[in-house]
Amino acid sequence: MTITSAQAPTGLNVHEISWSAKGTLIVDGIDLRAPFGKITGLLGPNGSGKTTLLRAVARLSTPDRGVVHLDGTDLAGLRRRELARRLAVVEQHAGTDLDVTVLDVVLLGRTPYRSALQSDSEHDRALALDALRQVRMADFADRKWGTLSGGEQQRVQLARAITQQPSLLVLDEPTNHLDIAHALSLLSLVQRANLTTLAALHDLNLAAMYCDHLVVLRDGRVEASGTAAEVLTPELLRDVYDVHADVGTHPVTGRPLLTFHPPAGGDLG
Ligand SMILES: Nc1ncnc2c1ncn2[C@@H]1O[C@H](COP(=O)(O)OP(=O)(O)OP(=O)(O)O)[C@@H](O)[C@H]1O
Ligand SMILES: [Mg+2]
Repeated sequence: MTITSAQAPTGLNVHEISWSAKGTLIVDGIDLRAPFGKITGLLGPNGSGKTTLLRAVARLSTPDRGVVHLDGTDLAGLRRRELARRLAVVEQHAGTDLDVTVLDVVLLGRTPYRSALQSDSEHDRALALDALRQVRMADFADRKWGTLSGGEQQRVQLARAITQQPSLLVLDEPTNHLDIAHALSLLSLVQRANLTTLAALHDLNLAAMYCDHLVVLRDGRVEASGTAAEVLTPELLRDVYDVHADVGTHPVTGRPLLTFHPPAGGDLG
């Protein structure tokens, strides 16, 4: 179950994961790899199974079958607390108590490291405040969670995940509420963290810019995987998203740069 620590960390390996609801298969035998220390982007249209897969990978739900290894360890064999030290999740919709302060939310990231009766240490608070600085939310430490904007909440949730000091970050649309400056800054921050990261993203140009590896889902299965240049072709975009796009080259990063055409007739089909 656990490999020796002398072996190099291998990142995330998902094998044959399936999940169904009331007899309907939503995620259907998915295999994917997220390389150690890199950002893997999980792409796919609405309803293709991204959130369902991320929840099964993070063991927020129990898959019907399949195994998930992180750096050689089967996640199904870990207790909750051990699991929470290894992986941090930022969900699409955070169900956080509205009345707690921002700092309290970030300090939740330290829960797996202390006993129920222990209060936060100076070290915990220093880590939490540092993470808030990294997401540019330090000035909000004493604000009530419920008073934050959607984008501010998203940045605080990332700070909580960083404070957890995990080996794996699982992010479900981490930039969907963010303006472009904060989206770029958040993904740059994740990139600098050098953590194995699996992130569902809808903005394909951001995915091309920041992800080292992409996996595209369609109807609960893997349709394509590889580098941005391998995956983001006009053919794939037409087949999977039913959009027409030109694929150029980003003048600074050299990664693919997509330009989308308006749909024929101007409707969404
Ligand atoms: N508990 C459930 N019961 C029934 N259907 C479900 C359940 N959970 C998810 N689904 C369905 O499974 C499909 C995949 O949902 P999922 O949330 O994983 O999609 P997604 O790729 O994350 O989409 P989005 O881009 O909109 O976030 C959807 O059609 C959804 O309605
Ligand atoms: Mg989703």
